[in-house]
Amino acid sequence: MTASAQTISPDLLDWYDRNARALPWRSPPGAPPPEPYRVWLSEVMLQQTTTAAVAPYFAEFTRRWPSVEALAAAPEADVMAAWAGLGYYSRARNLVATARIIAEREAFPDTEEALRELPGVGAYIAAAVAAIAFGQRAVVVDANVERVVSRLFALGYPLPGVRKAIREKADAITPHARAGDFAQAMMDLGATICTPREPRCLLCPLAEDCDARAGGDPARYPVKAPKKAKPQRTGTAWWIEREGAVWLVCRPAKGMLGGMRALPDDGWSARVDGSRKPPLAGDWERAGTVRHSFTHFDLDLEVQVFRAAEPQMAGDGEWWPLDEIDSAGLPTVFAKAAQRAQA
Ligand code: ADE
Repeated sequence: MTASAQTISPDLLDWYDRNARALPWRSPPGAPPPEPYRVWLSEVMLQQTTTAAVAPYFAEFTRRWPSVEALAAAPEADVMAAWAGLGYYSRARNLVATARIIAEREAFPDTEEALRELPGVGAYIAAAVAAIAFGQRAVVVDANVERVVSRLFALGYPLPGVRKAIREKADAITPHARAGDFAQAMMDLGATICTPREPRCLLCPLAEDCDARAGGDPARYPVKAPKKAKPQRTGTAWWIEREGAVWLVCRPAKGMLGGMRALPDDGWSARVDGSRKPPLAGDWERAGTVRHSFTHFDLDLEVQVFRAAEPQMAGDGEWWPLDEIDSAGLPTVFAKAAQRAQA
């Protein structure tokens, strides 16, 4: 049996009315939509990150910056620091840039096309905000939706090539009414029923329509191209301590962890190992190694410690009090290194 717009969306919306997850950035099924600011903020946070990880950040951001105008007025460094731990830090910089653009205008952009022009807003976020905040029909495809659609239609060739076919099928089943609920229903189905490894087909409102289920092995969709091994990199982070404070730098705006506060390091990146050259001569002591997995490489980061009464630091940086290190907004890899240095 082949799924169609006629059979899928009523069954799915009916299921959503009874089973929608209550999430802090959402309205209940059928209720008026949340403020566009909250929808946009949550979708930016959720794009590469799980709902569980996002929830405390969403609460903190909306407490500190309850409107797009408040966020637009915030110093970028405060927003970057508040983002620390969520990863993919260019999202935070784009968030501030977009907030400033929107705050200058009379109204929040309300079409996919207008949303796409904002920094950091790609096809997914534009469609999600248009549908969820403004009730417009938009084809919203995230990883959950890819899984659900590739199974419904048993699309058996691999990611990423299959994405075009997934989008066409998603388009075919997207209704005109309740566009936001439909998008979020697809996400919830993917997150709670049509899960990656052991889909719970007995509970699925679309089981009757699902080609993958009829084929007997729904978990094999979406088919993935074989993974390339991640490169393994090594690098060093330098912990320079003086009288209860540690020397922190601000990373260059462009590039990995751009604009984030950090420990000085020896220049490692996805492409090269670090140089191991310390930023100043001294009695360095090895505190150990921490591991961190980035999207495109794994890093073994050695932590070297130097404690002195008066180290002469050149260049831009600041002495950060050790007892306030948690509020420095260090990205996770450097937070791990800081813990290691102080262990
Ligand atoms: N993932 C991305 N956007 C989401 C949303 N609005 N609800 C649940 N999960 C999501």
